[in-house]
Amino acid sequence: MHALNKPSRHYRSFAKINLHLQVDARWEDGYHQLRTIFQTVSLHDRLRLRQSDRPGLRLTVPGGGAPAGEANLAYRAAAAVLARWAPEMGLDIELRKSIPAGGGLGGGSSNAATVLLALADMLEISSDDVELVMIARGLGADVPYFLVGGTALGEGRGDDIVPLQELAEQEVVLVDPGVSVSTAEIFAALPRPERRLLPASVARAVDGGETAGIAEMAGSNDLESVVFEKAPEVLAVYTALRIAGATFVRVSGSGGTVFACFAKPQRAAQVESYLPRAARVFVARTLSRSAVNRQRLVVESES
Ligand code: C5P
Repeated sequence: MHALNKPSRHYRSFAKINLHLQVDARWEDGYHQLRTIFQTVSLHDRLRLRQSDRPGLRLTVPGGGAPAGEANLAYRAAAAVLARWAPEMGLDIELRKSIPAGGGLGGGSSNAATVLLALADMLEISSDDVELVMIARGLGADVPYFLVGGTALGEGRGDDIVPLQELAEQEVVLVDPGVSVSTAEIFAALPRPERRLLPASVARAVDGGETAGIAEMAGSNDLESVVFEKAPEVLAVYTALRIAGATFVRVSGSGGTVFACFAKPQRAAQVESYLPRAARVFVARTLSRSAVNRQRLVVESES
């Protein structure tokens, strides 16, 4: 078969939110010891992988929104897998972004993990292969979570993952304030952390207890006040969502995305009318681990 006719595989690469994010300590290397609760949401980017007879690795981002080539974490993920398991393989990757970059939704990390899982599938490597997980850790603190998905606890740098009982699926409104926030800058500006107990609702979930919805499960986010200080646009969105009647509002990770729950289903335009002009609204749903695994590979007839 000619290279151009090789079949491609098409994947969804889902975003995450942090329902709780607690910073327990700062280490010598500048990294922080965390306990965070991750949750997958339905907002996703799309990745197309095609094996090629032309040697080497190529990554394009036709609609923009992320760097092409080596500067992209997904490229580095693919390069690491090919170097270890298939040095002769040629591969073309096309990435179409919908997840705002630099938004605390883990878009880049999700793309990298999706490439790892896609290649693991192609090359018949187990998704919990120790070397694959090591590659994920080396790419960034959020990447190992995306190998697992659903509701999960992240400890250590956020990369020791413990899957938790799933939250009931529910609507969540994500708002990108239109500012990119640097994770490194937010962590650097954080006051010296102190180790505390987990909030009771989070501790119950971690101990295997029943989890209900986002509002019952979410504790707090230690990065939130620093994000508000560095990026007042995020605070403006947070306040506007409260005024719009949200029952729960929180910054995801190091921001700037803010997520909110409402008592009734929302339409994006309805929420937008309360927000600053630069803000973008995504009405999404939380996804369980099994839903993520079912929906990752796109069946072409439904794309
Ligand atoms: O690992 P990743 O590249 O995603 O982290 C981005 C930055 O966030 C790090 O360079 C570090 O400054 C900060 N960080 C941290 N502690 C963590 C995770 C990230 O200080 N546990």
